[in-house]
Amino acid sequence: MNLILLGPPGAGKGTQATRLEHAYEIAQLSTGEMLRAEVSAGSEIGKKADGLMKAGQLVPDEMIIGIIGGRLDRDDCRNGFILDGFPRTVPQAAALDVMLDEKHLRMDHVMSIEVDDEAMVKRITGRFSCAKCGAGYHEEFQKPKVDGVCDACGSTEFSRRADDNAETVRERLKAYHAQTAPIIDYYDSRGLLRRVDGMEPIDNVTSQLKAAID
Ligand code: AP5
Ligand code: MG
Repeated sequence: MNLILLGPPGAGKGTQATRLEHAYEIAQLSTGEMLRAEVSAGSEIGKKADGLMKAGQLVPDEMIIGIIGGRLDRDDCRNGFILDGFPRTVPQAAALDVMLDEKHLRMDHVMSIEVDDEAMVKRITGRFSCAKCGAGYHEEFQKPKVDGVCDACGSTEFSRRADDNAETVRERLKAYHAQTAPIIDYYDSRGLLRRVDGMEPIDNVTSQLKAAID
């Protein structure tokens, strides 16, 4: 099964993709995570992407299409995949259609996680993750069970993303409305779109997604 999770910054794409990855044994492909890995590695792609990401702007379509194209061929995608953060523009959606055709694959569901912009700033500025295993948390909505200790791996080191500040979030939301929101219609007109209420608590959003998939 192949899925796309759509939604603005902070909608819960990453949180929900991790849960669906385990529930359906399919690979989570987050283009944001892939780009952050390139930035950490200091690669040419990372150097080009870093400034754009810190400014809350999208990286060029060709760059991201190149990254995702090779990734779909890996073994962990054999059962299927969840695209988290891709496609993000109409040209990316069109390029994905071509890639799927060439690989004789199809998209099963496109899930739009619908949320209010105002709530997203709070979600993003309160987000942190385990520096060792990457498990995601929120200061108010998803605290570790024991304060200061990662539930998943026991590490006591946490980190925050360079683009998780109130100013950059507003730029990311602008980019979402201008460049990404049009792909909702792109998929709706193809009969693939399912909408879920992303303002509900995390567990309820997971239940809505599973109900729509099953
Ligand atoms: P990316 O990493 O994809 O960031 P984003 O789209 O801004 O989305 P986020 O990861 O911030 O939010 P999320 O929806 O995953 O929310 P999460 O589950 O963490 O992209 C970063 C940058 O990379 C882009 O700005 C761009 O520069 C570049 N890029 C990436 N892909 C690209 C592409 N295809 N084309 C061009 N450029 C690209 O949740 C947020 C917080 O809220 C967490 O703390 C969580 O615990 C909490 N939370 C989640 N759900 C709920 C809930 N229901 N209730 C309460 N709290 C919740
Ligand atoms: Mg994310």
